[in-house]
Amino acid sequence: MKITIVGAGAVGASCAEYIAIKNFASEVVILDIKEGFAEGKAMDLMQTASLNGFDTKIVGVTNDYSKTAGSDVVVITSGVPRKPGMTREQLIGINAGIVKSVSSNLIEQSPEAIMIVVSNPMDTMTYLVHKTSGLPKNRIIGMGGALDSARFKYRLAEALGAPISDVDGMVIGGHSDVGMVPLTRMATRNSIPVSKFISEERLDQVMEATKVGGGTLTKLLGTSAWYAPGAAVSGLVQAIVCDQKKIFPCSTLLEGEYGLNDICIGVPVVLGRKGIEEIVQLDLTDAENEHMNRSAEGVRKTNGLLEL
Ligand code: 2OP
Repeated sequence: MKITIVGAGAVGASCAEYIAIKNFASEVVILDIKEGFAEGKAMDLMQTASLNGFDTKIVGVTNDYSKTAGSDVVVITSGVPRKPGMTREQLIGINAGIVKSVSSNLIEQSPEAIMIVVSNPMDTMTYLVHKTSGLPKNRIIGMGGALDSARFKYRLAEALGAPISDVDGMVIGGHSDVGMVPLTRMATRNSIPVSKFISEERLDQVMEATKVGGGTLTKLLGTSAWYAPGAAVSGLVQAIVCDQKKIFPCSTLLEGEYGLNDICIGVPVVLGRKGIEEIVQLDLTDAENEHMNRSAEGVRKTNGLLEL
């Protein structure tokens, strides 16, 4: 299977590295507009092949979309990352134009591909691809919830004093500092509800720390995170390429599910070779529904800034 990643920055390169190390793809093409940058990243990554034990072929190209032709999955990470103190929504002015042209170039070369959108503001960029690409909705996936859920599990394990492998939890809603909906009610420690071990107050702290997980790292790093975003994307790509039917919270176009229409926002979906194969309708409490609706309002506000 052939995967293309547009953007050889930290997120794109991390994504390529994790895909290669998992060794489920035959080829990964990294494309960037900066002369030689993708070629350098690809060569450096290929020089880890004997050390990390993978046979995936990683190729770097500078702005030549013909080399991406026939990709099964394409990933858009291009655009500017946020700086400390910025919101993801503030990136729309620059990133919308980039995402629109990148998605169009990718589809021209790989009309059957499944597209994963990472660039921020991610829910709105995913919606933009729906509105401009003509791809069917099952083949447009926004990556945010998988990353937010990984941060949620990290914070839950920290609060529980438990190994992360014992913890499960999901974050739905918008991929934004205020719009995320960590489903604390459903979180478990080896299938035991976490409320058995930690107080409501501590769970609220976990929820808040999860929501600002990206911003916390941006303050520490001076730019957006890349390891966990790259790893989260690689998990989605693997579920698609290997037809795993795994459930991830992904940003997808809703047409009545969760009482929402004409919006892309994070909900649990089954991922397989066709892309989004099912949207899972959770039975949310009134409070969770209210949280989700507030999140949707925030996403719609950002969508309103698009010039479609
Ligand atoms: C994050 O939350 C980049 O939006 C991504 O780290």
